[in-house]
Formats: sequence, C-alpha cells, structure tokens
Amino acid sequence: MSVQYKTGTDGIDWEALGDLYEEVGLVAQFGKKRDVGVIKDAFQNSWKVVTAWKEGKLVGAGRLISDGLCYGTVYDVGVLEACRGAGVGKGIMEALLKGNEHLLIYLTSTFGNEAFYKKLGFKKHKTAYAKYPHVSEYLEQ
Ligand SMILES: CC(C)(COP(=O)(O)OP(=O)(O)OC[C@H]1O[C@@H](n2cnc3c(N)ncnc32)[C@H](O)[C@@H]1OP(=O)(O)O)[C@@H](O)C(=O)NCCC(=O)NCCS
Repeated sequence: MSVQYKTGTDGIDWEALGDLYEEVGLVAQFGKKRDVGVIKDAFQNSWKVVTAWKEGKLVGAGRLISDGLCYGTVYDVGVLEACRGAGVGKGIMEALLKGNEHLLIYLTSTFGNEAFYKKLGFKKHKTAYAKYPHVSEYLEQ
C-alpha cells in the first residue's frame, strides 16, 4: 500500500477528518459528537499534525501537543479499519516524533493497543496521573 504522510493542517478537509475520527472513535468525546469545529480548532492549536493519505483519501491522522522544548503529548493516532496492519499507524507516529527526539513524550493507549506503542519504544509510566472532565473507564477510582 502506497501511503503519503503530510505534516501540518494546510489542505485538511475537516469534514473528512471528522469522518475519520467518527469511525475510529477518537478526539476525546468530540469525534463521537462530530463537532468538526472543535476538531479543527484543536488540530490547528497542536504543535504537529500528521495525516496519512492513500490514493487521495485520508486514511489516518495523529497529533502532538507540545511546548517544543521540554514536553509533548501524543493524541488521536487513528487509522481507518480497512487500512490497519500495514504500517500506517507506525508511519504516523514516526512522522510525529521526527524532529522532536529531544522531548519527553507522554501518551495514553486505548485498551488493546498497548503493544503498538511498546513496539515504538514506549514504556509504561509508574506514577502517571490524569484528570478528565468526564467519566472515563481509563481512570482508577
Ligand atoms: C492503534 C492503531 C493506530 C494502529 O494502527 P496500524 O496502522 O494498524 O498499526 P501498524 O500497522 O503501523 O502497526 C505497527 C506495529 O504495531 C503492531 N500493532 C498494531 N496494533 C496492535 C495491537 N492492537 N496489538 C498488538 N500489536 C499491534 C503491528 O502488528 C505492527 O507490528 P510490526 O512492526 O512487528 O509489524 C489502529 O489500530 C487504530 O487506529 N485503532 C483505533 C484507534 C485507536 O485506538 N488508536 C490509538 C489511540 S491511543
């Protein structure tokens, strides 16, 4: 599968990105509620956005939020189901991290995808804490 990776938000069809995240169920709760305006603002305010394209179709995306100097957090790495298992997720992650090797990177895996991040060299954090503005099955009580 020939896949092109693009960096930045220029030329992104925001409705198509909304479709992508609706299918993969990411972007916190926003993808599920299909608020394309929020997705657009959130991505435009991100440090780095990477999209993956196959034959002109948006098939995956991810973003890095960062101060550019010390810390970064990876969010919303998603690939259309039909295109999974072909290295697209890995390609998005590698493109996001390229040039940001000096940053301390955090991320949270969705259930069942932990091995995807382990293969990319990420390790489980012993003392990570999170606070969500909504109920989440990811948080301990
Ligand atoms: C997680 C996700 C992005 C992976 O994308 P993908 O394109 O299928 O992943 P890749 O093909 O690049 O996989 C890279 C490697 O990770 C492995 N891998 C990917 N997902 C895995 C999983 N769930 N469990 C174990 N290994 C996995 C692949 O086998 C591959 O291994 P290899 O390098 O030894 O061949 C994709 O499954 C997805 O979009 N899931 C739904 C959204 C989601 O939950 N995203 C994670 C947000 S934190």
